[in-house]
Amino acid sequence: MQTDVRPENMVRITTKELANAFIDEQVKLIQQQVGDKKVLLALSGGVDSSVVAALLIKAIGRQLICVHVNHGLMRKGESEQVIEVFGKQMDANLIYIDATDRFLDKLAGVAEPEKKRKIIGGEFIEVFAEEAEKLEGVEFLAQGTIYPDILESKDGVKAHHNVGGLPNGMTFQLVEPVMLLYKDEVRVVGEALGLPHEMVYRQPFPGPGLGVRCLGAITRDRLHALREADAILREEFAKNGLAGKVWQYFIAVPDFKSVGVRDGKRYEGWPAIIRAVNTTDAMTATIEEIPYALLHHITNRITHEVEGINRVCLDLTPKPIGTIEWE
Ligand code: XMP
Repeated sequence: MQTDVRPENMVRITTKELANAFIDEQVKLIQQQVGDKKVLLALSGGVDSSVVAALLIKAIGRQLICVHVNHGLMRKGESEQVIEVFGKQMDANLIYIDATDRFLDKLAGVAEPEKKRKIIGGEFIEVFAEEAEKLEGVEFLAQGTIYPDILESKDGVKAHHNVGGLPNGMTFQLVEPVMLLYKDEVRVVGEALGLPHEMVYRQPFPGPGLGVRCLGAITRDRLHALREADAILREEFAKNGLAGKVWQYFIAVPDFKSVGVRDGKRYEGWPAIIRAVNTTDAMTATIEEIPYALLHHITNRITHEVEGINRVCLDLTPKPIGTIEWE
């Protein structure tokens, strides 16, 4: 086990050469720690767990078992990318679980945001633990803990090591190879490991996923509309040079409809609300000024291409007073 205090003289990893040196060192450490045992990893497809997966695949290959739980609240194409990159390109030992129905059935009719979060978090642990119980000889659990997580847990801001909830006295030794790195360093290491740029540099995405952006009680049709509208926003931001510049951008869809007209007929639909913010620490946030021509283009695409959406609105509220997410 390595220490959880970053040495003062540790060089910030900013180049491919520094990343490769870190990777070589960690590969050796992981091999020493794990030996010929198996390691389990919950692979969400987020930056940290993806980089840890790639690092462990390099060190121990198929001794790493990655479990990707699709909770049905992923953005468009995300689970497919996990399967493509890890399952196919990296030949990982990947277990893919489509738990969409389990999650959406449990969430049906639940409108209260914190209750939704609890259900999603609880169900995730349950699905993951069920898979873990089926496996034999797993002694290690890998986690994408990064240095800010350690600092925040020391400050009491966040509970670190949030593995709590694995049942029946399941105990694992932890493997946390990027625990001394800052986010920017994790990204440099991820690129050096050959992960796709858009995976390594993607914007933060909350654990409960689209669940907290499909406002109120989630329905499948509204969730589908949200996912499609969000995909258009992301595509247009990427095409227009905003994807790498704006910290977080997404669509929220509330659970009410307004009257509209489409093809000469009354067309009731939900509004899609665009939110695009910049921040350094997510404690405060400012609004990105999206060019009006682009806003018109996005509005046109969403209202014409997405079934169920008949208006597009723009959220201009900084944080404070508005939180970044709507729920
Ligand atoms: P708020 O809405 O609190 O968001 O201004 C600040 C940052 O945290 C993310 N966020 C979450 N992340 N689980 C997460 O993993 C959550 O329940 C959650 N809620 C908000 C949000 O996307 C933003 O980056």
